[in-house]
Amino acid sequence: MISRVFSPSAAVRWRAAQTRLSCSAPTGEDKPRPSMMRHLTSKIKATGPITVAEYMREALTNPVTGYYVRNNMLGPDGDFITSPEISQIFGELLGVWTISEWMAAGRPRRLQLVELGPGRGSLAADVLRVFSQLRSVVGGASVSLHLVEVSPVLSRVQAQNLTGSRNQEAESEDQLVYRRGETADGLPVSWYRRLEDVPSGFSIFLAHEFFDALPIHTFQRTARGWREVMVDIDPEEANRLRFVLAPSPTPASTTLLQADERRGHVEVCAVGGVVVQQLARRIEEDGGAALIADYGHDGTKTDTFRGFKGHRLHDVLTAPGSADLTADVDFSFLRRMAGRGVACVGPVTQRAFLKNMGIDTRLQASPPTDHQGA
Ligand SMILES: C[S@@+](CC[C@H](N)C(=O)[O-])C[C@H]1O[C@@H](n2cnc3c(N)ncnc32)[C@H](O)[C@@H]1O
Repeated sequence: MISRVFSPSAAVRWRAAQTRLSCSAPTGEDKPRPSMMRHLTSKIKATGPITVAEYMREALTNPVTGYYVRNNMLGPDGDFITSPEISQIFGELLGVWTISEWMAAGRPRRLQLVELGPGRGSLAADVLRVFSQLRSVVGGASVSLHLVEVSPVLSRVQAQNLTGSRNQEAESEDQLVYRRGETADGLPVSWYRRLEDVPSGFSIFLAHEFFDALPIHTFQRTARGWREVMVDIDPEEANRLRFVLAPSPTPASTTLLQADERRGHVEVCAVGGVVVQQLARRIEEDGGAALIADYGHDGTKTDTFRGFKGHRLHDVLTAPGSADLTADVDFSFLRRMAGRGVACVGPVTQRAFLKNMGIDTRLQASPPTDHQGA
């Protein structure tokens, strides 16, 4: 019953400094993806303004035109780069953490390593390399790798990086495991679209820059009370979106805000809360630990919703589906959602975590290589 949560506030993702988002999208800067913009404007015309959460979910993970579903966006030629892509040491130290949690739990015979949002599969590959180097320690355990990935494009990149050609896609789309494979060391790898499809059992969960990609609801304090921020069509330009405030309380504004909230603008990632509840329940029932590494804060920040494209800040309402959308993770909210059945530690800075895991010693041992061009 161990849950470890850490937030490397200085996580490396080559992004420019944060700025406040504007309230409407500039024109002419970027050609919108026609089908995504058309899809969103028809939705808004049919049912009225949509929540920021719905906008973000559609823009990122719409099964046909979503940003993550269509793109391989990681790396120098993409829109952003992450710590595991920069140096193998990051994943190796998470491997050390994983093994130490497994040992602290009494070395269960079966160990599921579960990664949420594995990107290019680099982090998992680095963790597994540590497993193979420490075979004398982990050798007795039956280890399997479980990847929760919504993107078919990225799942193919992960499969190539982790298994070479030793993998195959499920024949029908409705299979819970949509791809299976085997690493060079013979470890089974399975791909799922949702955490709930991963089998139960002692598991170590890793989520690096996963929670920041989950949809947020945003709320504004007004003289008439809290109002949810919605996305609407700009009345002056049919192909342009703008933020508006809901005229009355919405289901989200009545359920997601804390009674003693002091901020004037608040972002709540309800989906992230549900994922953490699932992690906590699994850890309570089956044993294990979860490590959530992300940009974050402890319930203090206000307006962090932003877009990235080509390593630059990008207006969140422009060309939806063509840019990464992200919001800092509120670790105080995730802790609250984890409940009392598990112990939550952190958040701590990435620097403190990596130092505790022995980065200084690792740096002296042998020079790291990066994953670019891998
Ligand atoms: C910002 S990338 C981080 C990738 C990787 N963890 C890294 O640090 O390099 C987000 C990852 O989460 C996946 N993802 C985003 N939303 C998801 C969702 N709702 N369910 C499953 N995977 C999702 C993306 O496809 C991608 O693999």
